[in-house]
Amino acid sequence: MDQNMKILVVDDELVVRESLYHWFSREGYDTESAASGNEALQKLEQKNFDTMFVDMKMPGMSGFELLEKVKQLYPDTAVVIITAYGSIDSAIQAMKIGASDYLLKPFKPDQLSLVMEKIFQQNKISSEYRYLKGQLDKITRFDNIIGESDSMTKIYTLIEEVAATDAPVLILGETGTGKELVAKAIHVKSLRNNFPFVPINCGALPDSLLESELFGYNKGAFTGASHSRKGFLEVVSGGTLFLDEIGEISQKMQVDLLRVLEEKKITRLGQTQQIDVDFRLLSATRQNLGDKIQTGHFRNDFFYRINVIDIEIPPLRERADDIPLLAYHFLEKYSHETTKKIDTIDKTTLKYLKNYHWPGNVRELENAIERAVVLSKSRTLALNDFGFLKTISSQSFDSNVLTLRDMEKRHIKNILQDNEWNISRSADILGVSRATLHRMIKRQNMEKP
Ligand SMILES: Nc1ncnc2c1ncn2[C@@H]1O[C@H](COP(=O)(O)OP(=O)(O)OP(=O)(O)O)[C@@H](O)[C@H]1O
Ligand SMILES: [Mg+2]
Repeated sequence: MDQNMKILVVDDELVVRESLYHWFSREGYDTESAASGNEALQKLEQKNFDTMFVDMKMPGMSGFELLEKVKQLYPDTAVVIITAYGSIDSAIQAMKIGASDYLLKPFKPDQLSLVMEKIFQQNKISSEYRYLKGQLDKITRFDNIIGESDSMTKIYTLIEEVAATDAPVLILGETGTGKELVAKAIHVKSLRNNFPFVPINCGALPDSLLESELFGYNKGAFTGASHSRKGFLEVVSGGTLFLDEIGEISQKMQVDLLRVLEEKKITRLGQTQQIDVDFRLLSATRQNLGDKIQTGHFRNDFFYRINVIDIEIPPLRERADDIPLLAYHFLEKYSHETTKKIDTIDKTTLKYLKNYHWPGNVRELENAIERAVVLSKSRTLALNDFGFLKTISSQSFDSNVLTLRDMEKRHIKNILQDNEWNISRSADILGVSRATLHRMIKRQNMEKP
């Protein structure tokens, strides 16, 4: 039993109050007592009690009223009602409004032990529940998508919103920005999450193969079809189909898919009978579909069908504030995987990582960190663990390729960034007046990000 439990005894009758107080104190509980409802509420304001024993019949505030107030103000505090034998109805009433248990007067010490054991078990269950709930909330709250920048926060909201609908969503973004991650998150948050999430990379398959993969085929439909097979449009049944690289599919396939989206029926290759299908469509592309429509490579009608809602994930360089978070996330992942004890990234390196343009976005960052972890021989990742950064750093500080004015601009920018654009502090460091610094910022066309 948990002797750290804090108990408050509330009874106007001195004898009952004292005997309870002594019993709990002797058992080692941290115990206090109060002679009225008001006194009890005052004590509750100062201290958290785990359990209260409350007499039902008290002058002034009744045990009932106190119970109601406590359940409202301190829902985690367990309340055991004490009532006279013969008023069991009111005890039941009290249980209905939230009492954990009741004691009938007169009671014996072993009854108290029993009640305490029960309360202890209840507390244990509710704290386990809170723990598990917390874990679950973490999972359902985009635990695997890292990023706290404004643009990512907006994306989280969008995911929640579109997950509540069944509308087709088109996810846009450069390679490695996390399009598939977002698609999965939408599926997991949606009502279809008990059904499959089926990702298909349209760019990786030639047209004929994509067709048989999606629609399925009957035995003998084409040479080599030695048995019948369900296509993904059937397999996904009830779930979410994620068509990655949708910009790559042929005009014919666009027409076929458009029909499926409109009729919710398919025919397997080599079959005439139609089969009902039910799925939600998510798609993604790194191409500009607008351009493809202009040049006649993508159908307007299909575009409107798949693009009821779009989510655009900005490239990593446009949310550089997320880079340290991501870098540390991947550091933890790969130092854990390789069981290497690497726990930090030095400050200068982090700055370079933040300033790098990351053409391969998050995937490139992940690969860079993985490689650095594998090769590093110290507990801290440093610039020389990232070969590609070193060439940039030596280039950018090579005075041969920079004019004096560029050098000035770069230096001012670095100091401003390091000091979060605090003008007084930066001016101090640069050894100029605030007015001069303001002039320099203007002349160099610099802007606070
Ligand atoms: N915000 C993020 N937090 C954590 N990991 C991320 C994040 N974004 C991307 N990743 C990781 O980066 C890798 C690439 O992500 P994903 O496959 O979702 O990108 P994509 O946009 O679909 O890329 P492509 O266009 O090349 O298909 C994955 O390993 C993914 O887990
Ligand atoms: Mg992808």
